[in-house]
Amino acid sequence: MNIDVFTLFPEWFEWFGSQRHVANVVEAGSRLRCVDLRARTPLSGGQVDDTPFGGGAGMVLRVDVLDSALRGHYGVDPVDLRERRRVIALAPTGRLLDDGLVDELAAEPELTLLCGRYEGFDERILEHFASDVVSIGRYVLSGGELAAMVLCDAVLRKLPGALGHADSAAEESFSSALEGDPEYPHYTRPSEYRGWQVPEILLSGHHERIAQWRRERSRERGAEGR
Ligand code: 6GU
Repeated sequence: MNIDVFTLFPEWFEWFGSQRHVANVVEAGSRLRCVDLRARTPLSGGQVDDTPFGGGAGMVLRVDVLDSALRGHYGVDPVDLRERRRVIALAPTGRLLDDGLVDELAAEPELTLLCGRYEGFDERILEHFASDVVSIGRYVLSGGELAAMVLCDAVLRKLPGALGHADSAAEESFSSALEGDPEYPHYTRPSEYRGWQVPEILLSGHHERIAQWRRERSRERGAEGR
């Protein structure tokens, strides 16, 4: 999987890229690259945004800046780019990211992520360049970078080699293996601490009964709306 992130803060992703599970998938052949929007801007003084038409607070990322960044990087008209790869703008107005969308994106060979700042994107960027607009929750962040990292983290950990254990990502919260329910509770040593006991069944060695117990706890959490 190749991911290109268009951002005003490429240095933020250096830390992210150095995290173990990200480094693991990169070693396994994936790539996470950043493109600095300011370095690609056609405007003077590194300008990338402007005041909103109609008035109001904040600044808006300009459509000509994104056009030139995408065209410069891919060598094609960005209007055609989304036919070839998912071009995902991160914005609080977008489709909510969930495990289903993460699976869908993890199956893509190439992703392009667009990070807006301040008040966000000129709408024409979303309309003409993006294939998707994705949000990570119903609250507002000061930019798309953290949301892009959340998306990358969720997607990359699904790829082979990201996690130590081959099936670590299969039976986890919200997966189809758990029919969309949250994961069951986990325990490790010590089996008793300050009088707090680990459920007896988990120490029993009865794999089938343990699987059944876990499935039940998972369903309970789902029913509680967790
Ligand atoms: Cl994707 N961007 C911003 N700026 N805020 C958000 C978001 C994205 N998702 C939730 N809040």
